[in-house]
Amino acid sequence: MILRSDYRASDFLLDRIELHVSVEALTTVEAWLHLRRRPGADPAASLVLDGRGIELLSIELDGTPIAPSGYRIEPEQLVVPAVPDAFVLRTLTRNDPEKNTVLEGWYRSGPMLCTQCEAQGFSRITYALDRPDVLSRFRVRLEAETARYPVLLANGNCVESGDAGPGRHYAVWEDPHPKPCYLFAMVAGDLACVEGRHRTPSGRDVALRFYVDRGNENRVAHAMESLRKAMQWDESVYGLEYDLDIYMVVAARDFNMGAMENKGLNLFNARFVLASPQTATDVDYDGVESVIAHEYFHNWTGNRVTCRDWFQLSLKEGLTVYRDQCFSADLGSRDVTRIEHVRTLRALQFPEDAGPTAHPVRPDAYAEVNNLYTATVYEKGAEILRMLASVIGEETFVAGIGHYLKQHDGTAATVEDLLASLEAVSGQKLDGFRRWYSQSGTPSVEITDEYDAAEGRYTLRLRQHTAPTHDQAQKTVLPIPLRFSLRDDDGQLLQLSPQPPLMPRADLILLEAAEAELRFDNIESRPTPAFLHGFSAPVKLQYAYTPDALSALVLNEEDGFLRWEASQRLMFDALFETMNGEPGEHSRMLLHTLQVLAANPPADKALLAELLRLPAESELAAQIEPLDPHAVTRARDGLRHAIAQALTGPLSVWAAWMPTDLSPENRARRSLSNLALWYLGHLNSARIRKLALERAHSPNMSLAIGGLAALRDSDSAEREEAMDAFHLRFRDEPLVLDKWFAMEAASARPAGLERVTALLTHPDFKPNPNRTRAVLGTFMRENLRSFHAPDGGGYRLLATELAKIDAGNPQLAARLVEGLLGWRRLVPALGEHMRAALEQLAQAGPSRDVAEKIGKALESRP
Ligand code: ARG
Ligand code: ZN
Repeated sequence: MILRSDYRASDFLLDRIELHVSVEALTTVEAWLHLRRRPGADPAASLVLDGRGIELLSIELDGTPIAPSGYRIEPEQLVVPAVPDAFVLRTLTRNDPEKNTVLEGWYRSGPMLCTQCEAQGFSRITYALDRPDVLSRFRVRLEAETARYPVLLANGNCVESGDAGPGRHYAVWEDPHPKPCYLFAMVAGDLACVEGRHRTPSGRDVALRFYVDRGNENRVAHAMESLRKAMQWDESVYGLEYDLDIYMVVAARDFNMGAMENKGLNLFNARFVLASPQTATDVDYDGVESVIAHEYFHNWTGNRVTCRDWFQLSLKEGLTVYRDQCFSADLGSRDVTRIEHVRTLRALQFPEDAGPTAHPVRPDAYAEVNNLYTATVYEKGAEILRMLASVIGEETFVAGIGHYLKQHDGTAATVEDLLASLEAVSGQKLDGFRRWYSQSGTPSVEITDEYDAAEGRYTLRLRQHTAPTHDQAQKTVLPIPLRFSLRDDDGQLLQLSPQPPLMPRADLILLEAAEAELRFDNIESRPTPAFLHGFSAPVKLQYAYTPDALSALVLNEEDGFLRWEASQRLMFDALFETMNGEPGEHSRMLLHTLQVLAANPPADKALLAELLRLPAESELAAQIEPLDPHAVTRARDGLRHAIAQALTGPLSVWAAWMPTDLSPENRARRSLSNLALWYLGHLNSARIRKLALERAHSPNMSLAIGGLAALRDSDSAEREEAMDAFHLRFRDEPLVLDKWFAMEAASARPAGLERVTALLTHPDFKPNPNRTRAVLGTFMRENLRSFHAPDGGGYRLLATELAKIDAGNPQLAARLVEGLLGWRRLVPALGEHMRAALEQLAQAGPSRDVAEKIGKALESRP
């Protein structure tokens, strides 16, 4: 276990790294490390370098070979006991990118070799101080066969290139900015380059270069445009400009996560770069835009100021997610963007915070560093900053970030440093928010109210509570900013005056104690309250809204998020009602509300689609305990059917829309029309199946996927025809074929386990992370019926596959194993089967990544 409290500064500093990398059958790396003892460090400390999976061929200190007795090679380290205070260490090592299946370090992906160094992949390339608080200037000479690897890239600027003997060439790249080695990157490949330009306000002309597989050049425009928008946004909102002359993005077929912000040379999962209307859905377009922006924003929040240690990961990730969320909200529909982010938070982060791997945003311990890249660190981390921005004001927040970046530019910082800057600039004490970083678990806020007609007084009583979590038994109170409003009988907003400190603004309660009471006088009739506008705090709100009040919120509220929240509550209530008996009052109120909504739809069709959309099975599953997945799917199917029947008229009108162009208005219409078709798909009429089949043939990928989705669970000739045609059409398009595999893996048709097993041996199942996630990730998240097969067969299938995957790619396996961790939440019969599958996997000798998670899930509860 690595503990946060064990942090010690490095004994050595590594001012300069020079690498000569030569790609042959194996790759040899000659490294010169310019090391010096940190002032104040132990003068007798040994030099301890990190290195994994590499073979040391020779080692010299200041030009003299070190005798074998002068150093030790340990499993993940190289120890040189006696070294002077300043010296150059030269090592020659060898690694095999072709056999690198962990996709960390230097590995092959299609026509290229590329790197992934965060968190500790650099030490798979050469021996180094592989920790984020050691910053170095890098110079790299990369040499390879010219024909096979015409493109040679690394961070910074290309300062030299030329021939290197028969059939070979080289390029030298120098990065002027000191950086930790996790931001190092290099690429050697046969790739096409699409170039654009951007001029910064101060007049720097930046070349924007996208490197993609040959043939994909015409799928880069959206990523290019997104990058320009991100650059402009950071310039105008934060006053931050890019600081090099070249910005490169390389799209890799095989990538463990979304993308990586290496200085000046981002590496991306191709699915977050490539987009064309024929191959990418509207949702994919948004994914490209936000990941491109995220990695770009890291150039300041992450690269110019990095993290002291990996426990501070949210310092760069939470902040950068918050920034990319604000960017997306500014570019698109504010409400719909927020709804999507909250949906992700609830589907991924809330269950994590309530499950066996619960941990604070700034964790205290880890066994495997890659397991720190969690929804909690990313998404909840972003929520903390959003709360801070709402408390101190967005402009002050931006100024605070400016202060932080200035103070810590070129260094490795801590969460504490960021909070100190926000305090300095706002003049407010933000101590309570420090606790948000150290306490795990999702707080509940319970609100009750009372109206005294005789006195004209309205009283709100608030209580917060955080239940013990797997990792922490004791909880404390947190500052919780709750935006709220009161309306009178006519639906008019009541003008309130602030009551500091509990109510610092007319629209904001800042609940800092376990309990609080707020009184409002001169209130003429019982007001209708609304809480948590824009989801102003990542909490579970408990307030007994009446069905009428929820309906009114859906239909009349201005805050789009609150409208959605109310429609979700109505849907949840209706689902619970059917799960526990018969459709009744809640179901009637839901259907009535949706009918009124459909008759008076809001102008924003994308928002309308969200108001009408049923929570995904996985979103429902995340919020129900004990969970009987089959009861959830039955109830949800029933509701889908009831809504399709109650709204057949308007749904049929919307379902007929098939706009293909990319304007915001038309993509909103596609979202609504796909949803309408999906609802109608449940009525199982030949007319709708025909419509869906026709749509599946659409040249527009969003529509095509909408067609397939409507048919997904139906055992019909149309479904088969649509799926076969889609498969044939996109056989040679890996990213689109992933969608076909995902659609098959999610289908609720009978014999699900047999079908998923067949997918895994399908001739087109060429396993890489995207394809594996498309099948197994979709299976475990979206196919509740088969995954939770009553005999436990789904869990065993996943465990068996994971054991194989884990042997090659632990990071990938550790992501997917999350599907098996929540056994305690399930009804006992299923829970036992899931636990047995976990034990099966535990006995297969899992990687450290997988073992850490399984260990937590199997531990007896504290
Ligand atoms: N820093 C990358 C990002 O932009 C993700 C790196 C993930 N690394 C890992 N080992 N899982 O979010
Ligand atoms: Zn990031």
